[in-house]
Amino acid sequence: MAAFESFRQLVEALRERGEVATVARQVDPRHELTAVMRHMQRGPNRPLLFTDVKGSDLPVITNVFGFRRTVAESLGLAQGDLLRTMVSLEAKGLPVDRVETAPVQEIVKTQDIDVARDLPQIVYSEHDGGAYITAGVLIAPHPVTGAYNASWNRCQLAGGDKLRVRMMPPQHLGRYHAEAEEMGQNLPCAIVIGAPPGLMFSAASKVPYEADELEVAGAWQGKPLRVVRCKTIPVDVPADAELIIEGEVIAGVREDEGPFGEFTDGYVPVMKNHVFKVKAITRRRNAIYHAILAGGTEDLNLVGVPIQAEIYKKVSAFVPKIRDIATPGYVFGCVISIDKQNEDQARNAMLAALGGYSWTKVVVVVDKDVDPFNAADVLWAIQTRCTPETGIYVVPRIPSYTREDVREVHRGKVGIDATAPLSMKQLFERRRFPGEADIKLEDYIGADSSH
Ligand SMILES: Cc1cc2nc3c(=O)[nH]c(=O)nc-3n(C[C@H](O)[C@H](O)[C@H](O)COP(=O)(O)O)c2cc1C
Repeated sequence: MAAFESFRQLVEALRERGEVATVARQVDPRHELTAVMRHMQRGPNRPLLFTDVKGSDLPVITNVFGFRRTVAESLGLAQGDLLRTMVSLEAKGLPVDRVETAPVQEIVKTQDIDVARDLPQIVYSEHDGGAYITAGVLIAPHPVTGAYNASWNRCQLAGGDKLRVRMMPPQHLGRYHAEAEEMGQNLPCAIVIGAPPGLMFSAASKVPYEADELEVAGAWQGKPLRVVRCKTIPVDVPADAELIIEGEVIAGVREDEGPFGEFTDGYVPVMKNHVFKVKAITRRRNAIYHAILAGGTEDLNLVGVPIQAEIYKKVSAFVPKIRDIATPGYVFGCVISIDKQNEDQARNAMLAALGGYSWTKVVVVVDKDVDPFNAADVLWAIQTRCTPETGIYVVPRIPSYTREDVREVHRGKVGIDATAPLSMKQLFERRRFPGEADIKLEDYIGADSSH
């Protein structure tokens, strides 16, 4: 199983299998597109392709990564082995493969740019302060070392050649910009829509500051990333992406950006954020525009899998037999399923996970017979196997989610040991029902079963 080297190849494979649902009727990018997407995410959760978006000649695809299995498939990895493999590959970065001509530069626009006309004007939540790019991977070389950073950042489409970007330090892009700004320079930067999956996941991951995230993307896709030089800035971008916005993040300028309904399901109020000046838009002739609903199923997979991998890295130093790590419900907590060999392992797993990822605020450790992806099964384990008197650990004061205006709510961390004591192993053996796995209900229930 090989990784998909482009977003387009992945979308094509999903289409060929009949997984992509197509919306042919015209939809309004202001609220209607998101409303339809919400229904899809709460129902069958399939990828959704809008072929007629009012005011735009670009089709819009969303919810491509609605399932974790698609994340694994996009990277050519088996789902059960996803985290272990991602961790083992991360350090094996592959230098990029530079090409001269690229599909993403089939159309090049450098004059008369208006982001309020040239891109779909998707307005997501009720009180959003305008249309946003939500599926853009921003890539920039470090102003001194040249190592590439990649990260996802929402961008407000201000109009003309202007975007406003949320990219505060300690996020690495914010630090890159701060270093350029100290030297009195703008930061050349490109926004990639429809990046190769390997790059999408390196952008969502906490790769060390010094690492080159284009090389990490190559490691995760098992092949060097094909890149081409931008037309107007000294930045390399993925040759096989769908669309690139070339430009600069301006030094010394901040403007009001927001409000924006973000991934915690609330609004980030208006804040002073960075300004991006667009110099060119390049794209494939038949480009597909990717849109992500912050906090929707696709976003929680794109954010969640790198968190799971990072926690796997830390916990595996203490616990040899990890079944899997999941982030059911939300990404400020995780569930670690282990094959416990001694009582200390559950506690060590908790501590490693709580310290291993800054956002992680709640950790539950369960036995290997509990499905960490199934929130109901995890609650069952807490209620039947945890000893609250000794099995709940509160680490006071440590911050998790540090967004300025809500950080006091996210202070303190908690670990819950929901594993059964090894000394009582037999008492906690889960029941099994012989033959259950082979039963097909339709063989037993006839058409007249309502009588
Ligand atoms: C779809 C999506 C949108 C995101 N939007 C933002 C954003 O607007 N601002 C931000 O700081 N982080 C955002 N993130 C999270 C960062 O991309 C993530 O924390 C990443 O690890 C930061 O990269 P860095 O380690 O290079 O700093 C988003 C993540 C995803 C998957």
